[in-house]
Amino acid sequence: MKILGIETSCDETAISLIEVDALNNCFTLLGNTVHSQIDVHVPYGGVFPILAKREHAHNLVAVLKQTLDSSDIVHYRSTPLTLPEGINTILGLDPELLTSFKSYISTVEKPPIDLLSVTIGPGLEPALWVGISFAKALSYVWNIPVVAVNHMEGHILTSLIKKVTHKRYDLLSHTLMGPSLALLVSGGHTQIVLVNKSTSGFEYGIIGETRDDAIGECFDKVARMLGLSYPGGPKISKLAHEARLNNIQSPEPLPRPMIKSMDFDFSFSGLKTAVLYLTQKLTGHGTEHLRILTTEEVQGICREVEDAVTDVVVTKIRNAAEMYITDTLIIGGGVSANTHLRQSLEKLAQNISMRVLLPEIEHSTDNGLMSALAGYFSKHKAVAWNDIPKAQGTLPLGPRVN
Ligand code: KG4
Ligand code: ZN
Repeated sequence: MKILGIETSCDETAISLIEVDALNNCFTLLGNTVHSQIDVHVPYGGVFPILAKREHAHNLVAVLKQTLDSSDIVHYRSTPLTLPEGINTILGLDPELLTSFKSYISTVEKPPIDLLSVTIGPGLEPALWVGISFAKALSYVWNIPVVAVNHMEGHILTSLIKKVTHKRYDLLSHTLMGPSLALLVSGGHTQIVLVNKSTSGFEYGIIGETRDDAIGECFDKVARMLGLSYPGGPKISKLAHEARLNNIQSPEPLPRPMIKSMDFDFSFSGLKTAVLYLTQKLTGHGTEHLRILTTEEVQGICREVEDAVTDVVVTKIRNAAEMYITDTLIIGGGVSANTHLRQSLEKLAQNISMRVLLPEIEHSTDNGLMSALAGYFSKHKAVAWNDIPKAQGTLPLGPRVN
């Protein structure tokens, strides 16, 4: 079964094509294109939703073309096809996308794709709208069913695979025996989730989540205060690594918010504020003796922020693993690319005899594969183009279960 996954929930325009061999629990990643908009958002210090929407509209057709070309499944027509009229209504709100869609799609034969999948949330609604309209348009023109998927489920499923060769992956879903714990850490989410297999896919229950900032958001905001560009997470990680190598400490310790609370919730806005106060104190903010932070101070603060976040996460996961007897920890979301957090969680898992499943670094941040995998596991929910649900910016993964 061939599935084309479309992902536009934030600042990555991403499309993947996978071919699943259900009998052998494996799939081939036929094509995988991620177009990052980071450069466009850097001047704003974060993702600017309307700009993200415009960029998705600008790039979707090129990303599709690259994915199909690299998959080697598309045949170009010698004479362009006239597309049905309805396309003008479906993409009517995005004239640029409509034009590029018509000029490309009219030149290709319908490819042998069985299912389309598209992220409908959570994420930035304007950004989600374009991806959904695009999926509708493809579904309409090619008459292929489409399934709406949850971005956070995609992050979980991207950890339930194992790379075997360059393009071949094993699916590990059948190796989950009882309930599993999942830690989701991204720019918009920090959640601990109970994952259960059901007859028709997976069921999710949230046992804890952030009450304010997500970890990725905290990293990005702290980075901004330290003069580092968006996205801050990778830069904090690099500077923290340098600090550890050179034994550089933070000028002052920072708090580990909610580390002792008896629940599985998080709060990271206090950590961000503590960094603000510390940098103001160090730089003489509000006094006549203003100065900028030294490189060592920045490195030390990055290390302490990364340590603080990691301490809290490791403690909560240890407590959750004790309360919910599970043998597998799944980690997903952009922040799972963080080496220190990965290694600390791997160490914890080893100590408490838990298996840990992490995404490949290349699939940690947003991508189209996550949408295609989520589509595969929800294929029974596929609908026709005119029944695709609306974008839901705060779409939950499941109910709160404690
Ligand atoms: O999952 P993702 O790509 O997008 C959302 O769904 O939000 O996650 C993006 C977040 C950003 O906040 C980014 O700073 C963070 O992941 N991130 C990292 C690293 N790479 C990306 N944070 C820490 N260390 C990294 N290496
Ligand atoms: Zn994400």
